Amino acid sequence: MMRRRPSTIPLIAMIICLTIVMFFIYSPAAMIDSYQGLMADCDLESVNSLAKLEQDDPCLLSLIRDRYLHRPSEKKLNLDAPIVDNPSMGQSQSILDILGKNKENGFFIECGALDGQVRSNTLFMEQHLGWQGVLIEADPKNYKKLLEKNRRSWSVPACLSTSPTPKTVVFKQAFNMGRISSNQESHQNKRPDADDINYVQVQCFPLFSILSALNKTQIDYFSLDIEGDELQVLKTVPWNRVDIKTLSVEFIHGREGKEQLKTYMEQQGYQVVKTITHWNMLANDFIFKKIS
Ligand SMILES: *[C@@H]1O[C@H](CO)[C@@H](O)[C@H](O)[C@H]1NC(C)=O
Repeated sequence: MMRRRPSTIPLIAMIICLTIVMFFIYSPAAMIDSYQGLMADCDLESVNSLAKLEQDDPCLLSLIRDRYLHRPSEKKLNLDAPIVDNPSMGQSQSILDILGKNKENGFFIECGALDGQVRSNTLFMEQHLGWQGVLIEADPKNYKKLLEKNRRSWSVPACLSTSPTPKTVVFKQAFNMGRISSNQESHQNKRPDADDINYVQVQCFPLFSILSALNKTQIDYFSLDIEGDELQVLKTVPWNRVDIKTLSVEFIHGREGKEQLKTYMEQQGYQVVKTITHWNMLANDFIFKKIS
């Protein structure tokens, strides 16, 4: 005769019910707790240390918004020298040839923005055509001068990452020739050189992270002049998530050479419209236009 085993089914059903009830009682609290736990770990040190991080990671965007994104000035423009018509060495003029001489209310990205005035590729558009944009400048000395100009654009005291994640780098300060130092090890804690070159530690963000923090993906003009890391920065851009109509990109200092830069941009759907040069090396830029 078969012995009837006590059924385990009611017991399992009870455990399931109890679990569901407990879930509804405790889950909101638990979710808030774990959210706060996550945000408690949300600092630069932790995002910088991650080998893999989405470029629009919520923690990263909140850090950029809270600490790096400076609002456009509402004060009167405060330029150093008498205003020249357009301080750009030809890049800005060529971009307006493409977009239309009187193209109004566009949005730009300028990096390095220097002091916001000297050879600025975007000042004319902001001053005379109602454009706004984001000025990105890594050198704290230049950035301080930039803020004093009261530009009517967003600004960010940081460098653009040469990889798809945020990181800190050693930056060589040299006014218009400053750049991410090619030797990231040896300059740490180094005193200023006799020739007044300083090395500072600077935070870098991927361009798309800065744009995401601004909620901006439609860009009319991107001016990129960072003394050698241009191609590496461009390679971090998720081109299918942004719409950048035109760019001027300096090509003279890049290790890979200008042909590689041109080829890479062609692969992203751009065409070189013009090459800008200057007798005194003050411009060596490709003007790119998106082929729509
Ligand atoms: C972008 O959008 C977020 C979320 O909607 C908002 O909190 C933030 O203030 C916006 N930032 C800017 C610069 O508009």
